[in-house]
Amino acid sequence: MSYRVPFVNPSEHYRRLKAEIDCAITDTLAKGDLVLRQQLRDFEEHLAEFVGVKYAVGVNSCYHALHFSLLAAGVGPGDEVITVGHTFAATVSAIVHTGARPVLVDVRDDYNMDPEKLVASITPRTKAILPVHLNGRVCNMGRILEIAQKRGLAVIEDAAQALGASFGGKQAGSFGLAGCFSFYPFKSLGGLGDGGAVTTNDAEVARLATLLRFNGEDRQTGEFHYHGYTALLDNVQAAVLDVKLRHLPSWIEHRRKIADLYREGLEPYGDLRLPHFFAEGYFDSFQNYVIRTRRRDELRQFLKEQSVETLIHWPKPMWEHRGLGLGNPDLPETESICKEVISLPMSAETTPQDVEIIVSRVRDFFASREMLARTIATS
Ligand SMILES: Cc1ncc(COP(=O)(O)O)c(C=O)c1O
Repeated sequence: MSYRVPFVNPSEHYRRLKAEIDCAITDTLAKGDLVLRQQLRDFEEHLAEFVGVKYAVGVNSCYHALHFSLLAAGVGPGDEVITVGHTFAATVSAIVHTGARPVLVDVRDDYNMDPEKLVASITPRTKAILPVHLNGRVCNMGRILEIAQKRGLAVIEDAAQALGASFGGKQAGSFGLAGCFSFYPFKSLGGLGDGGAVTTNDAEVARLATLLRFNGEDRQTGEFHYHGYTALLDNVQAAVLDVKLRHLPSWIEHRRKIADLYREGLEPYGDLRLPHFFAEGYFDSFQNYVIRTRRRDELRQFLKEQSVETLIHWPKPMWEHRGLGLGNPDLPETESICKEVISLPMSAETTPQDVEIIVSRVRDFFASREMLARTIATS
């Protein structure tokens, strides 16, 4: 189904950058630079500079960035790693695949880890904390780092949705032992397919990720140091991501303007809760624009009929997917979020006109529901 207002618009994204992307691809292909070449090194250097760390290591997904970072932190069987219940399954799978036990805690109303719930979940087995900077907003890293330092715990940041977001002037992915990014096509910095990176100031973490992504082999010496994985960020992808990284600051500014337009149009309206969480020091990159209403399912159906595409991140708590084998951790905020959230169109290509259409449709929805309620009350 094609929508009048699509959630994202990858063909328009490509159209705008066609000359630069085509040039990066053909140049890389013409040189025969397919694996571990200069384009990857350049991108890693620029990404590290952007995040404000010493090293960036390109891998084929945020999943692998998380997995390698946890291994680098020494996480393994018998350990516990604390993360949030409200995240994508890959965060938790990365913990499970180290042999450690994921401990899920609840989030606050900004969708990020509740530091006090974190404190209550620490046990002698806890080895690491894995905060997730959801929707382009950094977690309360001041408090989380304080807790981690006091208990001697490693912090691995899931920054899949937060490249370019910051807190206290520090970028997502620069707070903990390692930061983990995703370049899945619909992320703020999206590639041509799957991609990711580890960012770190720790030379040993960078070295381990570099070995593990290439089957454990040191490419200089040919020595295999570990049983590793095939998880490299492809060179062509790196060349394209390097082009796009130069545009990222202006895309984030655009996202922030779109978010402001949504706020102007929708606040205060119906029982809507908007994702503007005023607090000192936060710079949100609006990977997603997530609103909350108890009428979420009805609203989504209405918007679909009006040709506005929306998504739900995520419609049921992770532990209800029986195949994941997670016990019910009893997280009331996560449960109500799953029933109430809906993500509105948000990308570098979302236009003010798109927002105008969406805002007016959302307002129509609530106005018609209010009229219906009044008619029922007076009849
Ligand atoms: C919060 C979060 N963590 C991890 C991931 C996994 O990223 P990837 O698909 O690059 O493995 C995603 C992807 O959507 C995500 O949103």
